[in-house]
Amino acid sequence: MKTKITELFGIEHPIIQGGMHHVGFAELAAAVSNAGLGTITGLTQGTPEKLANEIARCQEMTNKPFAVNLTFLPSLTPPDYPGLVQVIIDAGVPIVETAGRNPAEYLPALKEAGIKVIHKCTSVRHSLKAQSIGCDAVSVDGFECGGHPGEDDIPNFILLPRAADELEIPFVASGGMADARSLVAAMALGAEGMNMGTRFIATQDAPVHQNVKDAIVNASELDTRLIMRSLTNTERVLNNDAVERLMEKEKALGDKLRFEDIVDEVAGVYPKIMHEGTMEVGAWSCGMVAGLVSDIPTVKDLIDSIMTEADSIINKRLSNF
Ligand SMILES: Cc1cc2nc3c(=O)[nH]c(=O)nc-3n(C[C@H](O)[C@H](O)[C@H](O)COP(=O)(O)O)c2cc1C
Repeated sequence: MKTKITELFGIEHPIIQGGMHHVGFAELAAAVSNAGLGTITGLTQGTPEKLANEIARCQEMTNKPFAVNLTFLPSLTPPDYPGLVQVIIDAGVPIVETAGRNPAEYLPALKEAGIKVIHKCTSVRHSLKAQSIGCDAVSVDGFECGGHPGEDDIPNFILLPRAADELEIPFVASGGMADARSLVAAMALGAEGMNMGTRFIATQDAPVHQNVKDAIVNASELDTRLIMRSLTNTERVLNNDAVERLMEKEKALGDKLRFEDIVDEVAGVYPKIMHEGTMEVGAWSCGMVAGLVSDIPTVKDLIDSIMTEADSIINKRLSNF
């Protein structure tokens, strides 16, 4: 399947793995890049030195292009973004996925190094902004998505065709994507490929605890919750005891809720969940698409089956109507 995205990034299939905190390590990025585009999550590494090591590990595991995700978060003690960007440039990483706030500050350096930038955002206006500052593509993240869906709450059946109507640069559909049906539907709505998060966690190649994969397989589409809305930092997470506790505080405190009130449930919990499998310790991002995930295949089998079934949907089911 040749699309503007496979051409832009020089990849075989139009399937991307989005950056995921404490999931997007070299093992997963390389496995996805062998067929599509995998992504190392920059902030999980934290320092430029550690990111350089992780990039080198990934380069040993695949000779295909892979991306590094840079998530720009509001923070009192921000990470060394200039240092992380420099490491990405020095290592010859060909693609960067940006997310969070507008990446304009770092675009000139990335573009000068010949790096392609795909910005992930949750609205048409932010997609247009990304286009206007020179991003090469966008990942349009609908309300369904795991992680931060923004505050507009527009699902992909509306958001993707709206993006198609307005954008000139290519975009991939993100949020709620799991299988060949997602891919073909996303292409029908105007996307040039798809980005998946939650689906890629439930694979044999994802370097996370088995409990995390099992939690996704066992979850239904009804099991995610939106937290931190009153802080304008909405996150879609899988429900658990910590999330219930957090939501009780949100209910009791209303607009008076401050980040410090919920710090126990959200700060620093990822290593314990993703690596130790202590699932009830805090809130972790997960998409509604968990309801469509019922197995834990290898990344290779997952992508192969998506491409085979996409062919059958397009050439048999759709062409028979
Ligand atoms: C556990 C988890 C952690 C994530 N961490 C990040 C992150 O650090 N930076 C980022 O840009 N997106 C992050 N995301 C969002 C994904 O890259 C992707 O946009 C999203 O998962 C797509 O929705 P889906 O889960 O329905 O496929 C995360 C998602 C999950 C599930």
